[in-house]
Amino acid sequence: MIDFKALAQTFDTPLYVYDFDRITARYEELKKAFAGRKSLIAYAVKANSNLSVVGHLASLGAGADCVSIGEVRRALTAGVPKYKIIFSGVGKRDDEIEEALRSDILLLNLESEGEMKRVEAIAERLGVKARISIRVNPNIDPKTHPYISTGLHENKFGVDIETAKRMYIHANNSDHLDPVGIHFHIGSQLTELEPIKEAAMIVADLVRSLLAVKIELKFFDVGGGLGIVYDNETTIAPYDYAQAILSTLHGLDLTVICEPGRFMVGDAGWFVTRVLYEKENEGRRFVIVDGAMNDLLRPSLYNAYHKVEVLGKSGNETPADVVGPVCESGDFFAKKRPLPPTEHNDLVIVHSAGAYGFVMASNYNTRPRPAEVAISGGKARCIRQRESFEDLIRLEKMCL
Ligand code: LLP
Repeated sequence: MIDFKALAQTFDTPLYVYDFDRITARYEELKKAFAGRKSLIAYAVKANSNLSVVGHLASLGAGADCVSIGEVRRALTAGVPKYKIIFSGVGKRDDEIEEALRSDILLLNLESEGEMKRVEAIAERLGVKARISIRVNPNIDPKTHPYISTGLHENKFGVDIETAKRMYIHANNSDHLDPVGIHFHIGSQLTELEPIKEAAMIVADLVRSLLAVKIELKFFDVGGGLGIVYDNETTIAPYDYAQAILSTLHGLDLTVICEPGRFMVGDAGWFVTRVLYEKENEGRRFVIVDGAMNDLLRPSLYNAYHKVEVLGKSGNETPADVVGPVCESGDFFAKKRPLPPTEHNDLVIVHSAGAYGFVMASNYNTRPRPAEVAISGGKARCIRQRESFEDLIRLEKMCL
């Protein structure tokens, strides 16, 4: 049990709290599911990029899936070995490509023919052979929120199968490209196995047809997307996930890479905020807290559900909106949620906030971003200080 009250007293609110032992358990569960196959769990750094979080996963053996050179630098800084780092993303700048090649990471994941030409030219200039994979868009509906669905042709991600084949043939004939992998990622917060399996089948068939023309890949990257429980979803068990993927790979000698973000850290994190006031407008009840959409954007952006608990209180529940101080009607954590009566300084715990929480925070309304605290073996350590007003204006100049 995490003592949120003591943490709020020590570190103040709003606050992010992460349970590192839970993260360890998640990592080990997934790694075990792939036992018997060569596998690499490349943690999707975007989900929670705190150096201690990435470093903790690195110490367990995880690699890193990065979508900017900043994330690559973070992964290296946090101690992820370069040969376990992947650099993905639809729009890489030349300087990012160059730095990634100089850093000698495992591979660059390409998402267009245009990008392949840039990588080839830059690799040639540097006199290196770039290890690459290609992100294939298998045109599968992952049955998740449209904003986090990525595997349909209408999405901007990856290339279609025919384009991928052309790209592999080009790369295989190039002195400066080494096609070593294939990649797909159909969406996030997936709770159904079938679309993943279907996508894996399509992509495994492509691997086989490449083999027929003597293009031998080493890595089969199935992306991320494993869902977690926010409300009462039924999620995919890691063992079933691994079996579904492995069942599509018979006869192929490939290292499986997966890139989970949310699964690793999502339900190992909480957002802790404090009640300021309660009020009622024409019968609608509002619980006003000191955290806001700038700290945790998911409810405002995706209408995402997060379980909300008033610490130590129960009974006499009536529907309430839990809202923050930001000057937007979209600033809420929960709507019409049955909650007990609250008082000034009661703690409100927002659950499953470890993924896409702090990383999507902003300074809107000149609000400093929250502190982050890690719990491991019962000990709490601050892994990011609360920002100060001075931090917020540090890069600004008063020019009159
Ligand atoms: N690999 C690729 C290529 C991705 O685009 C993503 C997530 C992942 C892996 C990790 O997916 P995960 O295992 O975390 O589902 N901000 C949204 C989620 C955006 C996900 C973007 N890509 C949210 O708060 O739900």
